[in-house]
Amino acid sequence: MLVPLLPPNEAAQPLPVSTTSRPDLHSFNFTVENDELSWNRVPLIQLIEQHGTPLKLTYLPQISKHIQHVKSIFAKAMARHRFRGGHTYCYCTKTSHFRFVLDEVLKNDTHLELSSAFDVSIVQELYRSGKINKSTYIICNGYKQPQYLERIGELIEAEFNVVPIIDSLREIGTYEHVHAREVNIGIRIATDEVQSTLFRTSRLGVRYSEVCELYRTRIQHHPKLRLRMLHFHINTGIQNTGYYWSELACFVHKYCKLRKICPSLDSIDIGGGLPIAHSLDFTYPYDGIVDQIIETISKICTRNHVAVPHLFTEFGGYTVGESGATIYQVIEQKQQNAKEMWYMINGSFITQLPDTWGKKESFICLPINNWSYPRRNVLLGGLTCDAQDFYADGPDRQHVSMPQYDEYREDQYVGLFHTGAYQEELSGYGGVSHCLIPAPKHVVVESDGNGRWKSCLFAPEQGSESMMRLLGYTEEKMMFSNDLDVLGSDCIPRHVCAPER
Ligand SMILES: Cc1ncc(COP(=O)(O)O)c(C=O)c1O
Repeated sequence: MLVPLLPPNEAAQPLPVSTTSRPDLHSFNFTVENDELSWNRVPLIQLIEQHGTPLKLTYLPQISKHIQHVKSIFAKAMARHRFRGGHTYCYCTKTSHFRFVLDEVLKNDTHLELSSAFDVSIVQELYRSGKINKSTYIICNGYKQPQYLERIGELIEAEFNVVPIIDSLREIGTYEHVHAREVNIGIRIATDEVQSTLFRTSRLGVRYSEVCELYRTRIQHHPKLRLRMLHFHINTGIQNTGYYWSELACFVHKYCKLRKICPSLDSIDIGGGLPIAHSLDFTYPYDGIVDQIIETISKICTRNHVAVPHLFTEFGGYTVGESGATIYQVIEQKQQNAKEMWYMINGSFITQLPDTWGKKESFICLPINNWSYPRRNVLLGGLTCDAQDFYADGPDRQHVSMPQYDEYREDQYVGLFHTGAYQEELSGYGGVSHCLIPAPKHVVVESDGNGRWKSCLFAPEQGSESMMRLLGYTEEKMMFSNDLDVLGSDCIPRHVCAPER
């Protein structure tokens, strides 16, 4: 079915483009003093002297700052529009699963969104350590294989505040058989993708045309299932485009339609998608966009005589992206023809910042030292043998501007900033990477609340032992067998099960 076309006045129009002046280094917490860069008041050269490079950094206070920022703009917009529903901030764990990230996130009265069976172990550990309790919302998204369904069932039976979001019609049977008096569920709606993609409708979620039928036939009269939430996530993020506003309006219309036949439905989840700065000239009207989201929901609900829903969000990139940085040393200058200068770095973009390769994403890329030196345009080259292991800036992939320094007498360091979201998740932290490039050292930086900072080594640079184990070199020999009976779990070679790093 085609998503219903809305009358022109139903979907909000894109906001006018801001004419405010462009931000600079200071807007993103950078300062330059004595020719050296500080980030969030952390003098990066000091960290480099202490830990060496390549170095991944996480600046924890940035996480809480971003959560509080989003919470406050939603609260302001809700107050402005006298929006009766509340806002629940969920963190989408797939953005970064590290414990130090989750610990920081959960200091801010937040809830969780999961996407895998293995996330459930994290939830159980966070509960054991008192970081969450049984009223913390656990939104279970994603396509669910049997193990994930089983583990969601475990959480429900242990009386966690779980809301499984139905992604496929097949999964509903599992919740019917969970040992619980009542199971709250949600339905994810499959959104239409932007026109340029190969397909029109997302593979994730239930078709618009099937949602009401699903409710009527499987949920409405079920003694256990309560439909509480309608969910959507726009793949391209929350952009100020006609496409986004029209998708949001369609979604809220669906909520209103369903709400009229389903009294238990009281919440919507608008997924993630708030952007972060990938360049110093980034601007985004966060307040205006959130205001328009709340206004759109309010208007459509009012027009349909339906109470406004409680609102859930699942911002991943915005929660952690700007907390991360990745620092390299330039190890050689290679002039490969009259025009092209390569600054070779002691790491790899393909393996350590995979979005630069897979999505041609850029990050804020700045020299760490030698700021007063004349600049030259260079390409940053990674260590693997892949031709695509390089970094170029911006959507049109420009050379980056770096100091012209004497490589025989001086060191040059370069930082890529706002790398805290998805990079380790995509590259597979600490595994076996292209050309056996090791996972870099990871340092976590905390503020002491008085403008000073302290750092902690989370993990040293990956050693060869873990790679040797993963590749099977630490086992005497592999056991082959024709006998299907012996292929039990005992036969799985130990190196496959061995803990990483
Ligand atoms: C269902 C869902 N929610 C939330 C997110 C987080 O999105 P973002 O990191 O853009 O905020 C994603 C990302 O893919 C997602 O699929």
